[in-house]
Amino acid sequence: MNYGSQLSARQDTMCTLSRVRPRFTTPGQTHMRVALASNVPRAIQSVRVRIRPFNPSETVAVVDLSLRAWAPVHISIREALGPAINDALQPDWRAKQQRDAEDVLSAPGSNVWVADANATVAGFVAVRIHDDRRIGEIDMLAVDPFHQGAGIGTALTRFALDWIKASDISVAMVGTGADPGHAPARRTYEKAGMKLVPMARYFMKL
Ligand SMILES: CC(C)(COP(=O)(O)OP(=O)(O)OC[C@H]1O[C@@H](n2cnc3c(N)ncnc32)[C@H](O)[C@@H]1OP(=O)(O)O)[C@@H](O)C(=O)NCCC(=O)NCCS
Repeated sequence: MNYGSQLSARQDTMCTLSRVRPRFTTPGQTHMRVALASNVPRAIQSVRVRIRPFNPSETVAVVDLSLRAWAPVHISIREALGPAINDALQPDWRAKQQRDAEDVLSAPGSNVWVADANATVAGFVAVRIHDDRRIGEIDMLAVDPFHQGAGIGTALTRFALDWIKASDISVAMVGTGADPGHAPARRTYEKAGMKLVPMARYFMKL
């Protein structure tokens, strides 16, 4: 599959989205109305966003948005790790990101939902319940840069936390980076009420 060719032309059409509080309906169908700021053409001033189950036919769309969303994050990771360690670990971040996303989307224990904005996949979240059923983990979360900053990441996170709780799991977890590229992710999880537990990981190029 050639994901690169499907990168959206809308990457150039960055615009500001004003935030609104997500309006939850049923656990399976979360709706929110996202109002665009006044500098956005009237025709697209209102975007209806719905959180619904991922369909495998949307794999290309989800992998594409993942590559767009993680591009700045990988620049930050490379700065944090240093080029020697980073390039030894992931000489081609795009290939690795694509594999990781495809693996999460197709894993038997994965539960994946997408944020559907006017019939476009704007973001996704993948959740996995650990085998001992002590933890529900947010495995992957990303929002297309075109749709970032409008509350979709927070809505997906809250949806995932509600789903984990409804599955009778009392602890939720997500792992992320402490580098500047992951600042939006940390803010998103903290906004959803999650608490940061400091942990350390050391690397050395041998
Ligand atoms: C993390 C991500 C999903 C957030 O999606 P989103 O739809 O933009 O999230 P929201 O609009 O709900 O809110 C994002 C919050 O992060 C904040 N934020 C954005 N950039 C930030 C930065 N550089 N530093 C600190 N906070 C930042 C926003 O201001 C907002 O908080 P606020 O409402 O208090 O202002 C999105 O940035 C993304 O896809 N990132 C790349 C992939 C990634 O890092 N995934 C998580 C890996 S574990």
